[in-house]
Order: sequence, then C-alpha cells, then structure tokens
Amino acid sequence: MKVTRSVHDLETLSADVLVVGHYADSGLTPAAAAVDRASSGVIQRLRASGEAAGKPLEVTLLHELPGVNVRLVALFGLGESTKLDAGTVFRSAAAAAKQIAAKARERVAFFSDPQWTGALTESALAGAIVGCQGQDLYRSQKNRFPFGELLFTTADPVAFAIGRILGESTNLTRRLVNEPPSEIYPDSFAQVAASTAKNAQLECEIWDESRLNAERCGALLAVARGSARPPRLVILEHRGGGPQAPTLALVGKGVTFDSGGLSIKPTDGMKTMKCDMAGAATVLGAMRAIGLLNLPINVQGYCGLVENMISGDAYKLGDVLRARNGKTIEVLNTDAEGRLVLADVLDVAVERGASRIIDLATLTGACVVALGNDVAGAMTNDEPWCQLILGAARACGEPIWQLPMFKEYGEQIKSEVADIKNVGDGRWGGAITAAKFLEEFVGGRPWTHLDIAGPAFLESPKPWLDAGATGAFVRTLVDVAKRFGE
Ligand code: BES
Ligand code: MN
Ligand code: ZN
Repeated sequence: MKVTRSVHDLETLSADVLVVGHYADSGLTPAAAAVDRASSGVIQRLRASGEAAGKPLEVTLLHELPGVNVRLVALFGLGESTKLDAGTVFRSAAAAAKQIAAKARERVAFFSDPQWTGALTESALAGAIVGCQGQDLYRSQKNRFPFGELLFTTADPVAFAIGRILGESTNLTRRLVNEPPSEIYPDSFAQVAASTAKNAQLECEIWDESRLNAERCGALLAVARGSARPPRLVILEHRGGGPQAPTLALVGKGVTFDSGGLSIKPTDGMKTMKCDMAGAATVLGAMRAIGLLNLPINVQGYCGLVENMISGDAYKLGDVLRARNGKTIEVLNTDAEGRLVLADVLDVAVERGASRIIDLATLTGACVVALGNDVAGAMTNDEPWCQLILGAARACGEPIWQLPMFKEYGEQIKSEVADIKNVGDGRWGGAITAAKFLEEFVGGRPWTHLDIAGPAFLESPKPWLDAGATGAFVRTLVDVAKRFGE
C-alpha cells in the first residue's frame, strides 16, 4: 500500500474515500466540518439524531453525499476530545480503515485533526495502516483490501514519517505471525530478518546450528532436535548511541510452531501455535522501526528460532540439559520449551553487553488464565525498569499488568536432579514460575519479561482488527527505546 502525505483540503483533493473524525463532546474535526458545510449539515443532523455519536470505534459510512464530490465519506468517532489518547486514536483510526477496506479502494484520504499532538497523529496513521490489513494472506477472495494509496492529511511531516514506520513495522510483525508454519520456520524467518535488517540499516548476524553448537546453546538445541527444520539465532543491532552508551536488548521467543513435543498438545491447543514466534516477530518489527527512525541509542534485537516437534531424536522428559550459562535443567515437560530457548538467548544478550533487557514471549497459558486475552503480564527483577516499560505501554494504549516475583515462586523450579527444572509444581502461578526460570539466565541485569500469550493473537476479530496476529507491543517497544535514550 502506497502511503503518502497530503496537505490538500477537501476542495482540492481527488480521492475515492474521505475519512474524517468527530468527537463525542466537542464536535467535528475541521475536515468533518468541511464535509458538513459542503453537504448542508448532514453530519450535524446525524449527530443531533444520535445516529452518529462520536464514540470511539463507531464508524458511519455516508455514500453519495450531496455537495461532496467524493462518493464515500467515512465518519469515525474519537470519543471525548479531552480524553483522546494514543491508544484510542490508534484503534479508532484502525476501525475506520478496517471497514473501508472491506472493498477495494484506489485512493483513501484520511484526515488528521490539526489540533493533535505529534504522538496522536502518529498513532492515527499507524492505526489506519494496521486496520486495513487482514489475515487473509492465502484467500483468493480477500476479506480485506489494503488501499491502493493512503493519503494521510497532516501538516506534520515528522509525525507522518513516524506513524508510517510504526504502522508498517506492526504489519510486518503481523504478517510473519499470520503466515503458516510451512512458510515461516527458523531459516525462513531468519531470511526475512536479514532482508529487513538491510532495509532498516541494522547489522544482522545469523547463527546456524553449528554455531549454536559451538556456542554451547544446549537448551535451545534440545528443543530444536525433534524438528527437521534446524534452529537459528538472529542478532540484530542498531548503533545509534556512542560506544560508551548503554545497550538495550530486546529478546523474542521464536518458536515457529509449538506442537508441545512429546508432551504433545491436543488439537485445540495446537491449532494456533504458529503464533508462538510472536515475541521474535515483535522484536523484528520494533528493530525495523528503531533502525528506520535512527533512534540515538544502542539497541540489540535477538530472535531465538526453533520448531518444537516430535521425532525419534526429540528431547525427552527426564533429560538434563546444560544451558549456555552452565546451569543444568531437568526437563519435565517438553511443552515448556519457550523458557529453554530464551535461557540461552538471554545469556547471549548478557554476554554481548546488554545493560537492560526486555524479553517478549507467548510463554504460558497460565498468563492468559490470570489476565485474559487482551493484557500482557510483566515480571521483573528491577522495579524502575519495569515501570519505564509500563509507562511506555500506557502511553501507547497497550495494556500490561505486573505480576509479583516473590521468592516463594522460585522454590517451585528447584530440581533434585539438576540445578532447576523447566516447570513448577503443578500449574498454579505458571506465568510466574516461568519468569522465575528466565531470571536464572539474565546475569542479574535489569530485566523485564512480557508474557504476550494472550494479546499476540486474536481468535476472534475486534472492531479495529481482523482476527489473527495483532502486532501488539511493537509501538510500546519503540516508545521504550525512545525513553531509554532520555
Ligand atoms: N506456547 C505455549 C504457551 C501459549 C499458550 C501461547 C496459549 C499462546 C497461547 C507454551 O510453550 C506452553 O505450551 N506453555 C505451557 C507451559 C506448561 C507446560 C508449564 C502451558 O502454558 O501450558
Ligand atoms: Mn509449549
Ligand atoms: Zn510455546
């Protein structure tokens, strides 16, 4: 989809669709007011009758308005103007784009409000770009049609550039997650990462199986062993800060398919497990944005890529693994594989000088039990670092809730045979025992773990988003990176 900035007003514009916003309290954006004037008050009459109330996610399609030479106007609600935040404007814009994209459109003109801050303008554009892309990658008859051209009207070229990068990076993450596991497996993901890195001016290193062996990544390699697809570790780097500046490390779980291994999942639990590389895809999307924005900090992105499968050579229950940092791990459930992959990747990040770490992982069903589908869990060994991340997430409108890391949870992963075991005692508190496991591999660095098992993937659609991959937390990670540099 072509995304261009426009400074046209209604009168001088040529487009197939106009997208204009209005508020629940204070009335119309200037673009909506212009449509209203041209049509002798149609929008005000819709408001007066309550037909269009200006609520967030409300979209009213107006065809063939008299006096307006564009055949379709989409009027979308923004809620109360005083409460407008980045999350609301993102979702409202995405809802409008999603509805319009139900049919093929050549040129869609989307009007921002000149009153908006840069952050609101960015979010609106990002939302519009995300909302019109669906999960119908392999349907002959599409459900969703990205526009031929999205003309985004704003006087702010910087916000335009940022919003576009954020939206397109989020869609990269979503596409990778939505692709079937026959297409996206460790090596093919790594190839996408390499070409993305090239376009975003990131350094990119790919470790293949023999390098992972040489690096003693015993935990990651054990998970990979049951698969015909060899594992990869992708290391991306953006050096925007000086050589003395601290380094932010983003680490993603990239299980391109999680069958559960010998602790095999039932069909119902397995059918969405192509989404188990969402952490890695989120890291890649965020690194792309960070590179293109050329943020003035040093950031490393790590994607630990394996397929968790079954074969005569698959890792077994009772196996003892030696992780890269030397700790031994008793395997009591091969479906608790994400933490094994991350164990070695976190250690590489520590060795390569990460000053602070965030990992993202579709790690536990227990986190979904605790917080539901829409909220990620945060677990940390460093309260200020976690608060910075929660602040960024709040600013982007991406919900995260912190879970405690009391030492009692750590007791559960002690093993009689090895240093630790890869599951807790029973399933209660499973999101936290998983985090306690990860903590063993961060070398005491400030670290926050985000369990995105719920929000990474939608089983049913939202008004603003098709079902499937969400691209959740790409925007938050970029915001974290900005705050990291301050
Ligand atoms: N990838 C799953 C977690 C998951 C569940 C992600 C639902 C997305 C949606 C993970 O590898 C897993 O299987 N975790 C187990 C851990 C258990 C065996 C300790 C789980 O949650 O059941
Ligand atoms: Mn699993
Ligand atoms: Zn998994």
